Amino acid sequence: MDRESIKERFGITGRSAALRNVIDRVRQVAGTDITVLIQGESGTGKELIAEAIHGLSARRHQSFVIVNCGAIPEGLIESELFGAEKGAYTGAVERRAGYFEQSDGGTIFLDEIGEMPPAAQVRLLRVLESGQFTRVGASQLRKVDARIVAATNKDLAREVRAGRFREDLYYRLSTVLVEMPPLRQRPEDIFPLLETFLHRFAQKYDSPVKRLSDDARELLLRYRWPGNVRELRNVAEQIEVLIRGREVTAEDIRPCLRGVRTEQDPSALLPVVHKAAGDSMDAREREMIYRALFELRSQVRRMWEELKRRGGGSGSEPEKYLPMIEDAPYEIASDQGAGLWRSDEEEGDGRDAPAPETPRAILEEEVAEEQEEPEEETFPTLEAAERALIARALRTFNGNRRQTARTLGISERTLYRKLKEIEEDL
Ligand SMILES: Nc1ncnc2c1ncn2[C@@H]1O[C@H](COP(=O)(O)OP(=O)(O)OP(=O)(O)O)[C@@H](O)[C@H]1O
Ligand SMILES: [Mg+2]
Repeated sequence: MDRESIKERFGITGRSAALRNVIDRVRQVAGTDITVLIQGESGTGKELIAEAIHGLSARRHQSFVIVNCGAIPEGLIESELFGAEKGAYTGAVERRAGYFEQSDGGTIFLDEIGEMPPAAQVRLLRVLESGQFTRVGASQLRKVDARIVAATNKDLAREVRAGRFREDLYYRLSTVLVEMPPLRQRPEDIFPLLETFLHRFAQKYDSPVKRLSDDARELLLRYRWPGNVRELRNVAEQIEVLIRGREVTAEDIRPCLRGVRTEQDPSALLPVVHKAAGDSMDAREREMIYRALFELRSQVRRMWEELKRRGGGSGSEPEKYLPMIEDAPYEIASDQGAGLWRSDEEEGDGRDAPAPETPRAILEEEVAEEQEEPEEETFPTLEAAERALIARALRTFNGNRRQTARTLGISERTLYRKLKEIEEDL
């Protein structure tokens, strides 16, 4: 099947050379039983590619079993994958087949393979080497004919060096390695994807397909897309649902581009700066300055919090300092007409704005909330505070569990467990 037919059949959009290479690789390996490892940032389309590999193979009429290794509680992962005998562990009330047995003859997609605990890694290696495995609590060897496609957003080679992933398993899995490039490295794909999504959502919400003004297009091109294609899809949905009028301007879109507010990755907030002819400052230089400014801002905030914690008084409000630091990147960026966030000039003092979404506004809001001292101090329970925090992070990342977990500094598995607990309580 040629490239275009593959794209059409599996709903893969884009015209970058990088995406073409990925599809060519898929074409080469789909018809074989070779194990494939797909590596790439969150939202780059790893699952879509795994589906294409299965859908183009001779196994396409058999099952395609998707297993999110990061979401299964650690103690259950072996029995989920390989099955268990009755009584093999507490709660194993009957014999059951695992995902491997279910994918016999088909394909098993091991998503988030980097999250697989060591004991399960050993069993997996055995399946890869001999096609054999045992159910948990059983000694009988079973054979399975499953094609393995694995995916990760981690750099598995680094996980190996750090001793968290078995080297022999890594080599077995990565016989064929497919690297999904982040969206910011293939800007040619941004508009074709956007068009596709705008049409899709226009149909879904029965609204006219929106047109983008030149400045809106430029803004989207310069944005970093930390959430990659998934984020672009969400932005397209917001454009179709929230924006009135057919023509969409940069001003309309800015509030949709929230980036990722994490301490670990302040650069995610920043636009990608493409060097234009006549630029006086080198783009890399400028980006480094942005980065430094954002880090500085985080440091000031931490210092202020520390002061406040030690009982520092009124002289230490961050409002005095934060705007200065926060404003600088706008100005540099808007010099080129590409400021990612609203500047003061465009927006007055922003206090009357109905939905303040600039980082500065959010910070100010947070600070104001922190400073509001109720007459009698009341505390939510730790549990309630934790839930509120999880909810907030989930909303920020459009429900993406991985980013939520990373931001909260917990493993995805822990987040999964907490969500389950909350769900059970509801
Ligand atoms: N090239 C593309 N064309 C059309 N849609 C795409 C493309 N790449 C990704 N998507 C869409 O973007 C969303 C995210 O893709 P997908 O779930 O495959 O990402 P992922 O790499 O598996 O992310 P994660 O690591 O977070 O699981 C999906 O809705 C997918 O259909
Ligand atoms: Mg995925």
